[in-house]
This record gives sequence, C-alpha cells and structure tokens, in this order.
Amino acid sequence: MKFAFSEISLPKRGSLAVPIYADVSFSPTAKEVDELTGGVLSRALETSRFKGKKGDYLEILAPAGLDVSRVILFGMGDADEVSQIGLENLGGTLVRKLNSAGARNVTVILDGLGDCDVKDSDAAARVAFGAKLCAFRFTKYKTEDEADSEPSLLRMTVASKSSSGARKAFVDLEAVAEGVFMTRELVTEPANTLYPESFAERCRELTSLGVDVEILDEEKMKRLGMGALLGVGQGSRRESRMVVMRWNGAPNKKNKNPIAFVGKGVCFDTGGISLKPGPGMEEMKWDMGGAGTVTGLMKALAGRKAKANVIGVIGLVENMPDGNAQRPGDIVTSMSGQTIEILNTDAEGRLVLADALWYTQDRFQPEIMIDLATLTGAIIISLGHENAGLFSNNDDLADQIFSAGEEVGEGVWRMPMSKEYAKQTKSPIADLQNIGTGGRGAGSIVAAEFLQKFVNDVPWAHLDIAGMAWSKKDTATVPKGGTGYGVRLLDRFVKKNYEGK
Ligand code: BES
Ligand code: MN
Ligand code: ZN
Repeated sequence: MKFAFSEISLPKRGSLAVPIYADVSFSPTAKEVDELTGGVLSRALETSRFKGKKGDYLEILAPAGLDVSRVILFGMGDADEVSQIGLENLGGTLVRKLNSAGARNVTVILDGLGDCDVKDSDAAARVAFGAKLCAFRFTKYKTEDEADSEPSLLRMTVASKSSSGARKAFVDLEAVAEGVFMTRELVTEPANTLYPESFAERCRELTSLGVDVEILDEEKMKRLGMGALLGVGQGSRRESRMVVMRWNGAPNKKNKNPIAFVGKGVCFDTGGISLKPGPGMEEMKWDMGGAGTVTGLMKALAGRKAKANVIGVIGLVENMPDGNAQRPGDIVTSMSGQTIEILNTDAEGRLVLADALWYTQDRFQPEIMIDLATLTGAIIISLGHENAGLFSNNDDLADQIFSAGEEVGEGVWRMPMSKEYAKQTKSPIADLQNIGTGGRGAGSIVAAEFLQKFVNDVPWAHLDIAGMAWSKKDTATVPKGGTGYGVRLLDRFVKKNYEGK
C-alpha cells in the first residue's frame, strides 16, 4: 500500500473520507460535500444511528453531484479531544473496511480538528501510520492465489493543512512501522525456519541501517560461563546463539552508558523433559517474542536515526526433549556464578535471561536495562491480553514505561515485587531454583524475582509479554497473529526519555 500527503482539496476519483465530530458536527469539507450533493450527507445521517462518536462509520455510494465513487463519514468524537491513538485507529479502520468493500484508493480529508494535543501535520501522518500498521500481511507461505482475499486498497492520500509537515512526520513513523513488521514476521515464522542461527542471521540485516551486530556462538558462551542459557539449549540439534546489537545514535552524549534491551528468544519451547501437553503446543513457536521485539525495536530506532545509544541483547535457544537434554534436578552454574537447581525444564526463559541480563550489565554498564519475555502463562491469568506485566526495581523507570504505554496504546500494568516472593527462589542445595516453592501462586512474580538476581542493582524493568505477543483477533491497527507489541511502546520510551531536545 502506498501513502501520499496533500493539501485540502476534493479528489476527482476513488473514495473520499471525511470526519464528523461529536453531536453530528460537520468538518468544513463535510459541509462542502453536503452542499455539493444537495444534502445527501445530512439525510443519510438522519436515517442512521451515526452521532459522530469515535468509531462511527457510514458509507454513501455513488453520490450524485460528486466525482468520487464513495463518501465515507467517520466519527471523530470531540474535536478538542482527538488523540494520536484515535487517528491511528481511524487509519486502520479505513483500511479494513475499504478492503472488504473492494475500494482501490481513498483520500482522507482531515480538517476541523479542534484545540487538541495533535498538530495537523502529525494528525495526517498518524492516520497513515495506523493504516500502514493494519495493512501488514504475512503471505510468504501462500502459494495459491486467493483473489477474493487480496487487499484491494492500494493507495491512501491524507489531506491536511500541512502536507509537507505530514510527509516529514511520516518518515519516522514509517521506520517505526518497519520495526513492528520485522517483529511480527519473526514471531510468525515457524520454528523449522526460524531457529537460533537463522534468527541471528536475520539480525545481521540491521547492519545496513548502521547497527553493529555481533553473534556469540556456543563456544564463546561456554568460555563466558553461560551455563544457564546453554543448559536450556543442550537438548536441541540446533546450536544456541546470543546476538548483541548496538546503535550509537548519540556519539557525543556526555553520559557514555547506553540503555539496554534484553529479549527471551526461545525459538521453540516444548517444555523440554518437563514436556508441555500437546494441544496448543504450536503456539510455542512465538516463545521468541521478547527477542523479536528487541530486534524490531533496534530496527525502528536505527531506521529513524534515534539520538540515543542503545544495546539490544537476545538469547536464542530451542528447548527440546532429547537424550542429551537437561533433566529436572540438574544444577547449572550461571555466568554470574550463582548456581541454579532446575526443578522444571519448562521454566527455561528465566534461565536464558539470567545469563543474557548478567552479560549485558557486566559488559555494558547500562544506565537502565529492560527485558522482554513471553515468560509465564500466569501473567495471562492475571492480566489477560490487555496489558503486559511490568516488574521493576525502580519507580521512576516503571513510571516512564507506564506512561509511554498509555501514549501509544500498548498497555502495561505494574505488578508487585518483594523479599517475601524472592524467598521462593531459594534452593535447598543450590543458590537458586528455577520455580517457586509456592505452587501455582504468583508464578509471574516469582519468575521476575528470579530475574532480579541477575541484574546486579542496575535500574531494571521486566515486561512479561506472554499475553501480548500473539493475538487471535484483529484490532484496528493490529491484524491477528504476531502483534509486534512493545516496539511502539519502547520506541516512545526512548524518544521521550533519552533523546533530549
Ligand atoms: N513460554 C512459556 C510461557 C508461556 C505460556 C508463554 C503460554 C505464552 C503462553 C514458559 O517458558 C513456561 O513454560 N512457563 C511455565 C513456568 C512454570 C513451569 C513455572 C508456565 O507458565 O507454565
Ligand atoms: Mn517453558
Ligand atoms: Zn518459554
């Protein structure tokens, strides 16, 4: 799909979309169109339930008095309260509706915005951004044409009072969308093609954007003492990998310490010897979602040349049952020196992160460190698919992540941590054990406490995205499948807190 930005003028063909604000208040263009058609808009609105609420939608076909083949009225709600998220949702909704209607191109005329937080140029770019995010498709394994389900919409033009500003704003947003798409692709790719080595190769693609990519193989990780990560991968025919990605967008920054993102990359999680039940196990191809988000985030930041120094570290393994697999009861030594008794080989993500987190803080002394992981089924019990679980040892950092999430519409909800929970990670015969002593209670919190043993007092946050990385239903800007959750959130987090003025 192609995007263009123009000044406000009525199009000669295709579909035209115009806003109607709360209480059926017309935008200037809607008013003009209503007059040109002898009041068709007003009459159509009278016979419908359309009130101009956010999400209201009405289509008028082949209106007499106009060149266009279709006029779409979309509700925007209060003109003073238009938000970025609302505009993105509008873009996505238009794509979905116009594709099912068979339209080929649309001009959105965005006028009449009130005294809201969004500038005209940004507003137009946000509509295109939402449309682009919605238009993502993963078709590489489709070999047969399905003409009926091919998207018809090829072009969207967004007209506003500031077309050049919109064009400029869209450059960065497009880079963010490309990052989101990379994450969605990685998450959707099956485990027979996406395994640690091939994932690491995909990371190398970021070199062309100026990201420095370094790949650690098993021998290197052995020398570094990463017994926790390597233990998880030892039952797989695929070798494990760690990838370090570096984006130095602010080489002259006084504070030389980078910020770091760390991702769980379990390319397939069978559970290992503590084998998972069969039904639904195919979902565990997306157990690399944390690593997928970190990689897509690096692509977004480099793509828009973010003025920040950022490290992305991902631990890549496959968790398989095998004659050589790690057993329940085994004790491994992590890079930190702490020993871990493996009581359940299915609690593997925290073992991968233990070494990835320790390595990251040890090598880079980051100012802050944020990890992302599809870590526990328990977080889905707590928060469903609306929010990721946020765990942190630092209130300021937690607040920054929370508000970035609110701004972009990717929710996080903070969960408690305390010494009492941490006690559950003590093993009778090793330093730590990889599952809690409390049975099924507080599983996500105990997992976070385990991770905290490997952050060495660095300001740190952990996002448990098990409920967010994959979606079984479409939303306005996220088609079902791999969501790319976290890329927009952390891109905003970096922009707001680390790129200065
Ligand atoms: N990858 C899973 C968590 C998961 C479950 C993600 C469902 C997405 C959907 C993780 O490795 C796991 O198996 N966790 C166990 C931990 C338990 C053994 C303490 C779990 O959540 O059951
Ligand atoms: Mn598991
Ligand atoms: Zn897992």
